Amino acid sequence: MPLSIRRDDLLPGRNFIGRWCEAQLGRRFDVADPATDTVFASVPDSGEDDARAALEAAHAAFTAWRAVPARQRAQILKRWNDLIVAHQEDLGRLISREQGKPLAEGRGEVAYAASYVEWFAEEATRANGDVIPAPVVGRRMFALKEPVGVVAAITPWNFPAAMIARKIAPALAAGCTVVCKPAEDTPLTSLALVKLAEEAGVPPGVLNIVTASRERAAEVVDVWLDDPRVRKISFTGSTPVGKHLARRSADTLKKLSLELGGNAPFIVFDDADIDAAVEGLMAAKFRNGGQTCVSPNRVYVQAGVHDTFADKLAERVAALKVGPASDAGSQIGPMINARAVDKIERHVRDAVDRGARILVGGQRLPAVGRNYFAPTVLIGADTTMACACEETFGPVVPVTRFETEAEVVAAANATPYGLAAYFYSRDVKRIWRVAEALEAGLVGINEGALAAEAAPFGGVKESGYGREGSIHGLDEYMHLKYLCQGQL
Ligand code: SIN
Repeated sequence: MPLSIRRDDLLPGRNFIGRWCEAQLGRRFDVADPATDTVFASVPDSGEDDARAALEAAHAAFTAWRAVPARQRAQILKRWNDLIVAHQEDLGRLISREQGKPLAEGRGEVAYAASYVEWFAEEATRANGDVIPAPVVGRRMFALKEPVGVVAAITPWNFPAAMIARKIAPALAAGCTVVCKPAEDTPLTSLALVKLAEEAGVPPGVLNIVTASRERAAEVVDVWLDDPRVRKISFTGSTPVGKHLARRSADTLKKLSLELGGNAPFIVFDDADIDAAVEGLMAAKFRNGGQTCVSPNRVYVQAGVHDTFADKLAERVAALKVGPASDAGSQIGPMINARAVDKIERHVRDAVDRGARILVGGQRLPAVGRNYFAPTVLIGADTTMACACEETFGPVVPVTRFETEAEVVAAANATPYGLAAYFYSRDVKRIWRVAEALEAGLVGINEGALAAEAAPFGGVKESGYGREGSIHGLDEYMHLKYLCQGQL
């Protein structure tokens, strides 16, 4: 497929552990294009020895890196940001090739990733501590912020550049060193970003990356989970895996940031601007084909506007163009793999079996390719359906009619998850009531596009803990040390 890149050396195809290297046992695994299922690259299939070597390198580099003045670390991150921006086209093509998202979204993700690097370049110089008024004469008290140590970053496939950037940039800014395992479906973008970090002047050992297949991923990660020298795990992915990481790292009491699954409600009240709500839903739901953890999973529309909203939504969804990233007009790409399409199909079948009606879509698109599913609108969805309880992670909108505010807030919160929630209303009192009542880490009010480098990103309940981005993101990679000086 012609999504070629200009700089071939952005595809090193090897691990980076102080230098570019193969897996110690020489194994490799294939990377396939989700648009066609054809293999177009391979990367090291690392195991325990590689994970340990990466950890040794990160541990050895920590003392020197934490001592580098914050301004100098910031300058390196600034150069990394500039290189990412300068290679936006190549990186965007790489993302689209291995992940499948339309090229405009691939390019957009590069800008989004760079925004975190730039943000944390600036935040690096603001890791201020406190001077605390002493309760007695002759004493001085201070709180200093220090880097936690070696960080293990475990990143997902849906945003292969942005999720790496939003973990590694604050870690390096704080003075931590990093071992990273990217998702097996999308290792190439991560390797390209590490190549640019090397060019930006990140010293050897400070940022290490090892790739591993689905079969060997646990072998790599377990080495880091069990080793007391890893002081922090930052993970984006599913709730079951997040719980496993929390349990397994409990023996060494690591600090954790877990950005886990969601089941976002999207509520449209009778008093909403309906056209704005339809546009907000289109933006939030169909970004990355619905493969986004903040993607609306359940759409609740109040009875008075239900039919109008559903008709307008159906018209917009029916017009979406599905196709590979190599087609300039594509708006919805392939799903990441066949398992993802199987799950989406199961959710749609289950909803129909339980009484939902398909307004648009509802089926696979084999004429386009094995991993494609038609953008779908279902009406008559209810809480018994799998699509209301599990994250579908695909282009399916199940719409549920509701009558009262109290009923919809209760329904929205009736889930173990609490990442994002959205609602549309023009009533200022309701806006504050509902925003405060929703159990979610992020709430979009008359807005479908939430995330920004300056905003805290993260969930409540079983969507995890910790925040990425914002002025709080750096603290996740630091601890406070209290100094008390007496006899003054
Ligand atoms: C995610 O899906 O994990 C991240 C989405 C975002 O940053 O908006």
